Amino acid sequence: MYADRVLSGMRPTGSLHLGHYHGVLKNWTKLQHEYECLFFVADWHALTTHYDNPLGIEQATWEMVIDWLAAGVDPSKATLFIQSQVIEHAELHLLLSMMTPLGWLERVPTYKDQQEKLTEKDLSTYGFLGYPLLQSADILIYRANQVPVGEDQVPHIEFSREIARRFNHLYGKEPGYEEKAEAAVKKLGGKKAKLYQELRTRYQQEGVEEALESAHALLGETQNLSLGDKERLYGYLEGGGKMILTEPQALLTAASRMPGLDGQKMSKSYNNTISLREEPDAVSKKIRTMPTDPARVRRTDAGSPDRCPVWQLHQVYSGDDVRGWVMQGCTTAGIGCIECKQPVIDAVLKELAPIQERARAYTEEPDTVKNIIDDGCEKARDLARETMRDVREAMGLSYG
Ligand code: TRP
Ligand code: SF4
Repeated sequence: MYADRVLSGMRPTGSLHLGHYHGVLKNWTKLQHEYECLFFVADWHALTTHYDNPLGIEQATWEMVIDWLAAGVDPSKATLFIQSQVIEHAELHLLLSMMTPLGWLERVPTYKDQQEKLTEKDLSTYGFLGYPLLQSADILIYRANQVPVGEDQVPHIEFSREIARRFNHLYGKEPGYEEKAEAAVKKLGGKKAKLYQELRTRYQQEGVEEALESAHALLGETQNLSLGDKERLYGYLEGGGKMILTEPQALLTAASRMPGLDGQKMSKSYNNTISLREEPDAVSKKIRTMPTDPARVRRTDAGSPDRCPVWQLHQVYSGDDVRGWVMQGCTTAGIGCIECKQPVIDAVLKELAPIQERARAYTEEPDTVKNIIDDGCEKARDLARETMRDVREAMGLSYG
């Protein structure tokens, strides 16, 4: 029950580029071997900013799913689905909205940032303010405890933790909770019970995170407790009631910042991308016409890789030998820029070849893609329904 479950979502932006590949997808393909993984298309999130023009979202969703698969996300390992096809997300979002203080939402840094950045849009909407809460529902409904996201999303994960904590605090208390929890502690048996109490005190009075972790480990290996008692004891550690919703954590990986063709971060809005399905000729041309060190006007001028965006691509794609060759050749005018770019062109084409091969296959078989998503949605729905049963019960909405 407390094993690691990974969940992540991406807004449907259509076909993806090398920035997505190096920044996100490569990581997903690794995680799928290490954890139970759920990856979904956050199409409702796209509506928060594109409510005035929703018609492209469906097409963008399918393009993006094809790119996930092409990049090596494996549907036999990870569950792939579309947010709006698991409507339970909306129910949880609604129920959580009842107990979400407005101030918490207004304080999320992306709220004001995005409003200031996207001035061409009117983002003074209820949906946009609620963006982080919808994201919390996405995460909490699967009791996912690890959420791989970029730096910019960390406040949203923290927000989700606070929502989970508040929910558990408000609704996790059953009648006679303290007595039941104390009785469950006794059932642990002498030594373990004592250790549990010590760890609980250390965590609650001194805030020692390791004490909490040790206590979780202790409970994890305990076998003589009922599921209900175990849940009580997990909740009791943190002072609240039962843990109905799991507090998630951001899973940050050493961010590989993918430089774009102009040396800025690769991003559609900078118009400096190479898309995963870019034709090989277009890839070569884009790299051949990339700007280089502005000081190298003529072939005979020596250059400085530190001032050149091509050098940044060598950091991603070249080994020590090639980099040494560039450094030496550039600073002595021993090589020309076209020559310098060739190993990057070769490496990008080599990286893209298998991705494009798979993309072609999936594009030719849209039914296969639809089936993968149908299966994924079904699996996701089963998990979401389980959580919603507990949530409704905790909030007195079972009507059973
Ligand atoms: N907000 C995320 C982004 O813009 C996308 C997202 C929506 C998400 N729901 C999520 C990411 C749940 C992780 C978990 O990138
Ligand atoms: Fe840039 Fe290479 Fe030209 Fe030097 S030789 S300026 S590193 S492209």
